[in-house]
Amino acid sequence: MAHYAVRESPPLRGEIPISTSKNAVLPIMCGALLTREDVRIEHPPDLTDVHTLRSLMEACGCRTHCEQDALILNASCLKNPQDEEDVRKMRASVLVLGPLLARLGEARIPLPGGCAIGQRPIDQHLKGMSALGARVAFDHGGVTLTGCLRGAVIYLDMPSVGATENLLMAATLAKGTTRIENAAKEPEIVDLAAFLSSMGAKIAGAGTSTITIEGVSELHGTSWQPIADRIEAGTMACACAITGGELLLRGARAEHLRSLLFKLSEAGVHIKDTPGGLMVFGRAKQPFEIRTMVYPGFPTDLQAPMMAVACKTPGTSVFLETIFENRFMHAAELARLGAHIRVENRVSVVEGTPYLTGAPVRATDLRAGAALILAGLCAEGETLVDDEAGHIDRGYCHIEDKLCAVGGNIVRL
Ligand code: EPZ
Repeated sequence: MAHYAVRESPPLRGEIPISTSKNAVLPIMCGALLTREDVRIEHPPDLTDVHTLRSLMEACGCRTHCEQDALILNASCLKNPQDEEDVRKMRASVLVLGPLLARLGEARIPLPGGCAIGQRPIDQHLKGMSALGARVAFDHGGVTLTGCLRGAVIYLDMPSVGATENLLMAATLAKGTTRIENAAKEPEIVDLAAFLSSMGAKIAGAGTSTITIEGVSELHGTSWQPIADRIEAGTMACACAITGGELLLRGARAEHLRSLLFKLSEAGVHIKDTPGGLMVFGRAKQPFEIRTMVYPGFPTDLQAPMMAVACKTPGTSVFLETIFENRFMHAAELARLGAHIRVENRVSVVEGTPYLTGAPVRATDLRAGAALILAGLCAEGETLVDDEAGHIDRGYCHIEDKLCAVGGNIVRL
């Protein structure tokens, strides 16, 4: 948990190193359970979610250690985690389901509770696993899957990122061919598939709606550098757009952020893709309309940071959140800084204002916390961001240090 004291800042200028992607590293760590050999993950981000998943890996019998700036995992002695609390701590823990089932023929996890942004069911994960031959039994708030997996055709009712990742991992060791239709196409899926292929998996079509996997009898170890965090990069691009600065986002890849970059250009922010990363400069000057969609549409994880940008952009900006049912909680917090925002179910209308004034606010989820820090950078006086729950540390590596290095007035209390 932490609190951040943020004060009005000059336009941010300089270079921000973008960390390895949280949403790529988490499924890749779970993928390490699919082999008995060492898996080396280069430059893992220093995030609470990574540390939480690492302790869950150890509860599954996986040995872990760090070497230079790499995390080494070895799951030669694999078992189901006994303490369900380990799994309940973080939603992404559901991603151990596929590997445990594929390796052990049995997996038991507690049903994840809801979270602030939505109910977050796992019905698509379970539907796919039963299609692969698993028997699914619910009891005492948990679900147990048993069975020897064989290839199948799976149709996802919606392109769920987590379900696609879980089923992709399970299918690598299933007997025969699996086809996942209406699969998610996020860059993190492509990265996971490339990682699994480097372990000997036979996967085709990752990044499209149809992924085909030929099951193999076993996978071998590998060493992997996951992709840069496109959501951290997008958040920092928003920090530039709200303060009117000039930032080089080192390591960021434009092709993973096209929807955001188009929106920022529509708003009058300049973007330049360079070999070292993404150059972003200038302030948002025109309002914009955003509809969050599955990839390659506008990412829901950048809706809150872009709402912070809209608060100070002249004119009326509109947001339609189509992915999660309750992801506008930051609107009420931004309004405490003087923002003019109206929320109706999945639509938010933001009237840009020239002045925001600092106030104590609360981080309601990971991306909302980042949005409040961004708004504080251009609010007169001090904005105290209360992050008692530690949301921000789950997804951003030392955000205060990275912003201070480019002129941001932010202190972690
Ligand atoms: C991943 O969550 C990300 N998390 C989320 O990032 C991201 O917001 C989300 O994808 C959408 O892009 C990780 O990668 C660890 P989904 P995930 O399954 O896999 C519904 C962040 O801030 N659904 O694509 O849980 C679900 O309720 C986090 O880094 C079902 O109905 O997302 C939601 O409304 C937040 N049944 C929608 O689909 C299911 O079985 C998208 O969920 C699964 C999902």
